[in-house]
Amino acid sequence: MRLCSFLCVLFICGCLSSYQAKLIRHKQNIVNDRPVIGILTQIVSDEVMKQYGSTYIPASYVKYIESAGSRVMPIRLTLTTAEYGNIFSRINGLLLIGGASNLETSDFARVSKIFYQLALKANEAGDHFPVWGTCLGMQLLTVLVSGHNFLTKATAENVASPLNLTRAAFSSRMFAGFPQELMKALQKEPLTGQFHHYGLTLKAFKQNLELQDFFSLISTNVGENGVNFISTLEGKKYPFYGVQWHPEVNCFQWDSRKNFPHLPHAIQLSSLLAQFFVNEGRRSLHNFDDPKEEALTLIYNYTPVFAGNFSGYEQIYFF
Ligand SMILES: *[C@@H]1O[C@H](CO)[C@@H](O)[C@H](O)[C@H]1NC(C)=O
Ligand SMILES: *[C@@H]1O[C@H](CO)[C@@H](O)[C@H](O)[C@H]1NC(C)=O
Repeated sequence: MRLCSFLCVLFICGCLSSYQAKLIRHKQNIVNDRPVIGILTQIVSDEVMKQYGSTYIPASYVKYIESAGSRVMPIRLTLTTAEYGNIFSRINGLLLIGGASNLETSDFARVSKIFYQLALKANEAGDHFPVWGTCLGMQLLTVLVSGHNFLTKATAENVASPLNLTRAAFSSRMFAGFPQELMKALQKEPLTGQFHHYGLTLKAFKQNLELQDFFSLISTNVGENGVNFISTLEGKKYPFYGVQWHPEVNCFQWDSRKNFPHLPHAIQLSSLLAQFFVNEGRRSLHNFDDPKEEALTLIYNYTPVFAGNFSGYEQIYFF
Protein backbone atom coordinates (compact mmCIF):
# COMPACT_ATOMS: atom_id res chain seq x y z
CA MET A 1 0.00 0.00 0.00
CA ARG A 2 2.70 2.41 0.98
CA LEU A 3 4.42 1.94 -2.33
CA CYS A 4 1.25 3.04 -4.08
CA SER A 5 1.50 6.47 -2.57
CA PHE A 6 4.98 6.82 -4.09
CA LEU A 7 3.96 5.72 -7.50
CA CYS A 8 1.94 7.28 -10.13
CA VAL A 9 0.80 5.64 -13.27
CA LEU A 10 1.17 7.89 -16.23
CA PHE A 11 -0.60 7.32 -19.48
CA ILE A 12 1.04 8.59 -22.59
CA CYS A 13 -1.50 10.85 -24.15
CA GLY A 14 -1.63 13.59 -26.66
CA CYS A 15 -1.14 16.24 -23.99
CA LEU A 16 2.47 15.18 -23.39
CA SER A 17 5.19 16.56 -25.60
CA SER A 18 7.17 14.03 -27.59
CA TYR A 19 10.11 14.71 -25.26
CA GLN A 20 8.19 13.61 -22.18
CA ALA A 21 6.62 10.74 -24.05
CA LYS A 22 10.03 9.35 -24.98
CA LEU A 23 11.23 9.53 -21.42
CA ILE A 24 8.35 7.70 -19.78
CA ARG A 25 7.93 5.00 -22.38
CA HIS A 26 9.32 2.20 -20.26
CA LYS A 27 8.18 -0.63 -18.00
CA GLN A 28 4.40 -0.34 -17.79
CA ASN A 29 4.70 3.42 -17.67
CA ILE A 30 5.14 3.29 -13.90
CA VAL A 31 7.15 6.14 -12.53
CA ASN A 32 8.13 7.34 -9.09
CA ASP A 33 6.75 10.86 -8.84
CA ARG A 34 8.45 11.64 -5.51
CA PRO A 35 12.11 11.04 -6.39
CA VAL A 36 14.99 11.89 -4.09
CA ILE A 37 18.41 12.40 -5.64
CA GLY A 38 21.40 12.05 -3.31
CA ILE A 39 24.25 14.55 -3.62
CA LEU A 40 27.57 13.65 -1.99
CA THR A 41 28.96 16.58 -0.06
CA GLN A 42 32.27 17.84 -1.41
CA ILE A 43 35.44 18.45 0.62
CA VAL A 44 36.24 22.13 1.22
CA SER A 45 39.70 23.01 -0.07
CA ASP A 46 39.38 26.79 -0.17
CA GLU A 47 40.85 28.55 2.90
CA VAL A 48 38.08 31.16 3.24
CA MET A 49 35.37 28.52 2.88
CA LYS A 50 36.96 26.42 5.65
CA GLN A 51 35.60 28.74 8.35
CA TYR A 52 32.06 27.70 7.39
CA GLY A 53 32.46 23.92 7.37
CA SER A 54 34.56 21.00 6.20
CA THR A 55 32.23 19.82 3.43
CA TYR A 56 29.83 21.68 1.16
CA ILE A 57 27.39 21.60 -1.73
CA PRO A 58 27.01 24.71 -3.90
CA ALA A 59 23.29 25.58 -3.89
CA SER A 60 23.29 25.66 -7.71
CA TYR A 61 23.44 21.83 -7.85
CA VAL A 62 20.53 21.58 -5.43
CA LYS A 63 18.41 24.06 -7.39
CA TYR A 64 19.29 22.27 -10.63
CA ILE A 65 17.91 18.97 -9.29
CA GLU A 66 14.94 20.63 -7.59
CA SER A 67 14.02 22.54 -10.74
CA ALA A 68 13.35 19.22 -12.49
CA GLY A 69 10.96 17.97 -9.82
CA SER A 70 13.14 16.05 -7.41
CA ARG A 71 14.04 16.51 -3.80
CA VAL A 72 17.67 16.41 -2.70
CA MET A 73 19.34 14.47 0.07
CA PRO A 74 22.82 15.67 1.02
CA ILE A 75 25.06 12.70 1.85
CA ARG A 76 27.94 13.26 4.23
CA LEU A 77 31.32 11.60 3.82
CA THR A 78 31.58 10.42 7.43
CA LEU A 79 29.14 7.49 7.51
CA THR A 80 29.73 3.72 7.61
CA THR A 81 29.43 1.40 4.61
CA ALA A 82 26.24 -0.05 6.15
CA GLU A 83 24.75 3.43 6.48
CA TYR A 84 25.52 4.16 2.82
CA GLY A 85 23.79 0.88 1.95
CA ASN A 86 20.70 2.06 3.81
CA ILE A 87 20.76 5.41 2.04
CA PHE A 88 21.18 3.70 -1.31
CA SER A 89 18.00 1.68 -0.78
CA ARG A 90 16.07 4.91 -0.17
CA ILE A 91 17.30 7.30 -2.87
CA ASN A 92 16.60 7.26 -6.61
CA GLY A 93 19.85 8.51 -8.10
CA LEU A 94 23.22 10.00 -7.21
CA LEU A 95 24.92 13.22 -8.30
CA LEU A 96 28.71 13.48 -7.92
CA ILE A 97 29.57 17.16 -8.04
CA GLY A 98 32.66 19.10 -9.02
CA GLY A 99 35.44 20.09 -6.65
CA ALA A 100 39.11 19.51 -6.01
CA SER A 101 39.25 16.22 -4.07
CA ASN A 102 41.79 13.51 -4.80
CA LEU A 103 40.28 10.95 -7.17
CA GLU A 104 41.77 7.95 -5.41
CA THR A 105 42.56 8.70 -1.78
CA SER A 106 39.93 11.23 -0.62
CA ASP A 107 36.79 10.48 1.38
CA PHE A 108 34.85 11.79 -1.61
CA ALA A 109 36.44 9.08 -3.78
CA ARG A 110 35.95 6.42 -1.09
CA VAL A 111 32.23 7.11 -0.64
CA SER A 112 31.67 7.49 -4.40
CA LYS A 113 33.16 4.02 -4.89
CA ILE A 114 30.73 2.51 -2.36
CA PHE A 115 27.75 4.01 -4.20
CA TYR A 116 29.21 3.18 -7.61
CA GLN A 117 29.48 -0.50 -6.69
CA LEU A 118 25.97 -0.56 -5.22
CA ALA A 119 24.65 1.11 -8.38
CA LEU A 120 26.42 -1.40 -10.66
CA LYS A 121 24.92 -4.32 -8.75
CA ALA A 122 21.44 -2.79 -8.60
CA ASN A 123 21.35 -2.02 -12.32
CA GLU A 124 22.58 -5.51 -13.15
CA ALA A 125 19.64 -6.86 -11.14
CA GLY A 126 17.19 -4.69 -13.07
CA ASP A 127 16.91 -2.09 -10.29
CA HIS A 128 17.38 1.11 -12.32
CA PHE A 129 19.65 3.57 -10.48
CA PRO A 130 21.20 6.53 -12.35
CA VAL A 131 24.54 8.12 -11.44
CA TRP A 132 25.64 11.48 -12.82
CA GLY A 133 29.12 12.96 -12.49
CA THR A 134 29.82 16.62 -13.19
CA CYS A 135 33.41 17.89 -13.70
CA LEU A 136 35.44 16.13 -10.97
CA GLY A 137 32.44 13.80 -10.64
CA MET A 138 32.84 12.73 -14.28
CA GLN A 139 36.59 12.30 -13.84
CA LEU A 140 35.90 10.15 -10.79
CA LEU A 141 33.53 7.94 -12.81
CA THR A 142 36.31 7.29 -15.32
CA VAL A 143 38.65 6.30 -12.46
CA LEU A 144 36.00 4.00 -10.95
CA VAL A 145 35.33 2.34 -14.31
CA SER A 146 38.96 1.90 -15.41
CA GLY A 147 40.73 1.61 -12.06
CA HIS A 148 43.22 4.24 -13.30
CA ASN A 149 43.59 7.97 -13.04
CA PHE A 150 44.34 9.16 -16.57
CA LEU A 151 44.00 12.88 -15.90
CA THR A 152 46.47 15.19 -17.56
CA LYS A 153 46.59 18.90 -18.21
CA ALA A 154 43.60 19.89 -20.35
CA THR A 155 42.83 23.37 -19.17
CA ALA A 156 39.57 25.05 -20.05
CA GLU A 157 39.22 27.41 -17.12
CA ASN A 158 36.39 29.91 -17.06
CA VAL A 159 35.38 29.52 -20.69
CA ALA A 160 32.00 28.93 -22.25
CA SER A 161 32.14 26.66 -25.32
CA PRO A 162 30.04 24.78 -27.80
CA LEU A 163 30.52 21.00 -27.76
CA ASN A 164 32.16 18.97 -30.49
CA LEU A 165 29.45 16.32 -30.69
CA THR A 166 30.30 12.82 -31.85
CA ARG A 167 28.03 10.75 -34.06
CA ALA A 168 26.92 8.86 -30.96
CA ALA A 169 25.50 12.10 -29.54
CA PHE A 170 22.69 11.96 -32.08
CA SER A 171 21.52 8.57 -30.85
CA SER A 172 22.31 9.19 -27.18
CA ARG A 173 19.77 8.99 -24.37
CA MET A 174 20.97 12.25 -22.82
CA PHE A 175 20.15 14.34 -25.87
CA ALA A 176 17.33 12.17 -27.25
CA GLY A 177 14.62 14.67 -26.41
CA PHE A 178 16.49 17.77 -27.56
CA PRO A 179 14.88 19.76 -30.35
CA GLN A 180 16.97 19.85 -33.53
CA GLU A 181 17.53 23.56 -33.11
CA LEU A 182 19.15 22.98 -29.72
CA MET A 183 21.40 20.25 -31.13
CA LYS A 184 22.57 22.76 -33.72
CA ALA A 185 23.06 25.50 -31.14
CA LEU A 186 25.01 23.14 -28.89
CA GLN A 187 27.62 22.82 -31.64
CA LYS A 188 27.86 26.52 -32.40
CA GLU A 189 26.98 28.66 -29.39
CA PRO A 190 28.97 28.89 -26.12
CA LEU A 191 26.41 26.96 -24.03
CA THR A 192 28.66 24.92 -21.73
CA GLY A 193 30.66 26.41 -18.85
CA GLN A 194 34.07 24.80 -18.45
CA PHE A 195 36.03 25.24 -15.23
CA HIS A 196 38.86 22.74 -15.07
CA HIS A 197 42.64 22.40 -15.38
CA TYR A 198 42.82 18.63 -15.79
CA GLY A 199 40.87 16.31 -17.98
CA LEU A 200 40.80 13.02 -19.80
CA THR A 201 42.29 13.29 -23.26
CA LEU A 202 40.64 11.73 -26.26
CA LYS A 203 43.85 9.75 -26.75
CA ALA A 204 43.75 8.33 -23.20
CA PHE A 205 40.08 7.45 -23.63
CA LYS A 206 40.71 5.66 -26.92
CA GLN A 207 43.62 3.71 -25.47
CA ASN A 208 41.66 2.31 -22.54
CA LEU A 209 39.45 -0.68 -23.27
CA GLU A 210 37.49 -0.50 -20.01
CA LEU A 211 36.44 3.07 -20.74
CA GLN A 212 35.67 2.29 -24.38
CA ASP A 213 33.51 -0.68 -23.40
CA PHE A 214 31.70 1.17 -20.65
CA PHE A 215 31.03 4.59 -22.14
CA SER A 216 29.83 6.04 -25.40
CA LEU A 217 31.77 9.18 -26.17
CA ILE A 218 29.22 11.96 -26.69
CA SER A 219 31.39 15.06 -27.02
CA THR A 220 34.92 16.42 -26.91
CA ASN A 221 36.45 19.87 -26.56
CA VAL A 222 39.85 21.40 -27.15
CA GLY A 223 41.81 22.71 -24.16
CA GLU A 224 44.09 25.77 -24.02
CA ASN A 225 47.08 23.50 -24.69
CA GLY A 226 45.45 22.24 -27.89
CA VAL A 227 44.66 18.82 -26.48
CA ASN A 228 41.34 17.16 -27.29
CA PHE A 229 39.57 16.19 -24.08
CA ILE A 230 36.45 14.20 -23.24
CA SER A 231 33.54 16.49 -22.35
CA THR A 232 30.43 14.25 -22.27
CA LEU A 233 30.07 10.51 -21.58
CA GLU A 234 27.09 8.17 -21.41
CA GLY A 235 27.11 4.61 -20.05
CA LYS A 236 26.41 2.07 -22.79
CA LYS A 237 24.73 -0.46 -20.52
CA TYR A 238 24.31 1.51 -17.29
CA PRO A 239 22.41 4.77 -16.66
CA PHE A 240 25.67 6.52 -15.76
CA TYR A 241 26.44 9.93 -17.21
CA GLY A 242 29.37 12.30 -17.08
CA VAL A 243 29.97 15.89 -18.12
CA GLN A 244 33.30 17.70 -17.78
CA TRP A 245 31.33 20.97 -18.01
CA HIS A 246 28.79 22.43 -15.59
CA PRO A 247 25.13 22.30 -16.64
CA GLU A 248 24.01 23.55 -13.17
CA VAL A 249 25.59 27.00 -13.55
CA ASN A 250 23.53 28.15 -16.52
CA CYS A 251 20.39 28.97 -14.54
CA PHE A 252 21.83 29.47 -11.08
CA GLN A 253 25.21 31.21 -11.03
CA TRP A 254 25.79 34.84 -11.90
CA ASP A 255 29.27 36.02 -10.84
CA SER A 256 30.07 38.43 -13.66
CA ARG A 257 33.79 37.53 -13.55
CA LYS A 258 32.84 34.03 -14.63
CA ASN A 259 31.74 32.97 -18.07
CA PHE A 260 28.51 31.32 -17.00
CA PRO A 261 26.36 30.70 -20.07
CA HIS A 262 22.97 32.43 -19.79
CA LEU A 263 21.87 32.48 -23.43
CA PRO A 264 18.32 31.20 -24.05
CA HIS A 265 19.71 27.95 -25.50
CA ALA A 266 21.97 27.56 -22.46
CA ILE A 267 18.95 27.73 -20.15
CA GLN A 268 17.07 25.24 -22.33
CA LEU A 269 20.07 22.88 -22.36
CA SER A 270 20.41 22.98 -18.60
CA SER A 271 16.68 22.50 -17.97
CA LEU A 272 16.37 19.57 -20.37
CA LEU A 273 19.42 17.81 -18.91
CA ALA A 274 18.14 18.27 -15.35
CA GLN A 275 14.79 16.84 -16.46
CA PHE A 276 16.53 13.98 -18.21
CA PHE A 277 18.47 12.98 -15.11
CA VAL A 278 15.54 13.34 -12.72
CA ASN A 279 13.38 11.31 -15.11
CA GLU A 280 16.03 8.59 -14.91
CA GLY A 281 15.60 8.82 -11.13
CA ARG A 282 11.83 8.46 -11.49
CA ARG A 283 12.44 4.97 -12.84
CA SER A 284 13.90 3.98 -9.47
CA LEU A 285 11.35 2.72 -6.95
CA HIS A 286 13.67 2.93 -3.92
CA ASN A 287 11.90 4.70 -1.11
CA PHE A 288 12.01 5.60 2.55
CA ASP A 289 9.94 3.32 4.81
CA ASP A 290 9.36 6.14 7.22
CA PRO A 291 8.20 9.58 6.02
CA LYS A 292 9.57 11.15 9.21
CA GLU A 293 13.01 9.74 8.53
CA GLU A 294 12.75 10.98 4.95
CA ALA A 295 11.85 14.50 6.06
CA LEU A 296 14.84 14.69 8.40
CA THR A 297 17.36 13.72 5.73
CA LEU A 298 16.34 16.17 3.02
CA ILE A 299 18.18 19.36 2.11
CA TYR A 300 15.27 21.45 3.48
CA ASN A 301 16.75 20.90 6.96
CA TYR A 302 19.75 23.04 5.98
CA THR A 303 20.15 26.71 5.18
CA PRO A 304 22.57 27.86 2.50
CA VAL A 305 25.03 30.65 3.28
CA PHE A 306 25.32 33.75 1.07
CA ALA A 307 28.69 33.18 -0.58
CA GLY A 308 28.81 35.83 -3.31
CA ASN A 309 31.31 37.92 -1.31
CA PHE A 310 33.87 35.14 -0.73
CA SER A 311 33.46 32.66 -3.60
CA GLY A 312 32.32 32.34 -7.18
CA TYR A 313 29.09 30.79 -5.90
CA GLU A 314 25.93 32.65 -4.97
CA GLN A 315 24.96 30.36 -2.10
CA ILE A 316 26.58 27.32 -0.50
CA TYR A 317 25.32 24.65 1.88
CA PHE A 318 27.99 23.76 4.45
CA PHE A 319 28.07 20.54 6.46
C1 LIG B 1 36.16 21.05 -32.24
O1 LIG B 1 37.17 20.30 -32.90
C2 LIG B 1 37.88 21.03 -33.89
C3 LIG B 1 38.82 20.07 -34.57
O2 LIG B 1 39.61 19.39 -33.61
C4 LIG B 1 38.60 22.20 -33.23
O3 LIG B 1 39.24 22.98 -34.21
C5 LIG B 1 37.58 23.06 -32.49
O4 LIG B 1 38.25 24.08 -31.77
C6 LIG B 1 36.78 22.22 -31.52
N1 LIG B 1 35.76 23.02 -30.88
C7 LIG B 1 35.62 23.10 -29.58
C8 LIG B 1 34.47 23.93 -29.11
O5 LIG B 1 36.34 22.56 -28.79
C1 LIG C 1 29.91 38.04 3.43
O1 LIG C 1 28.67 38.67 3.71
C2 LIG C 1 28.07 38.19 4.90
C3 LIG C 1 26.65 38.74 4.96
O2 LIG C 1 26.63 40.10 4.58
C4 LIG C 1 28.92 38.56 6.10
O3 LIG C 1 28.33 38.13 7.30
C5 LIG C 1 30.29 37.91 5.92
O4 LIG C 1 31.15 38.29 6.96
C6 LIG C 1 30.90 38.29 4.58
N1 LIG C 1 32.09 37.48 4.39
C7 LIG C 1 33.22 37.95 3.90
C8 LIG C 1 34.37 36.98 3.80
O5 LIG C 1 33.36 39.12 3.53
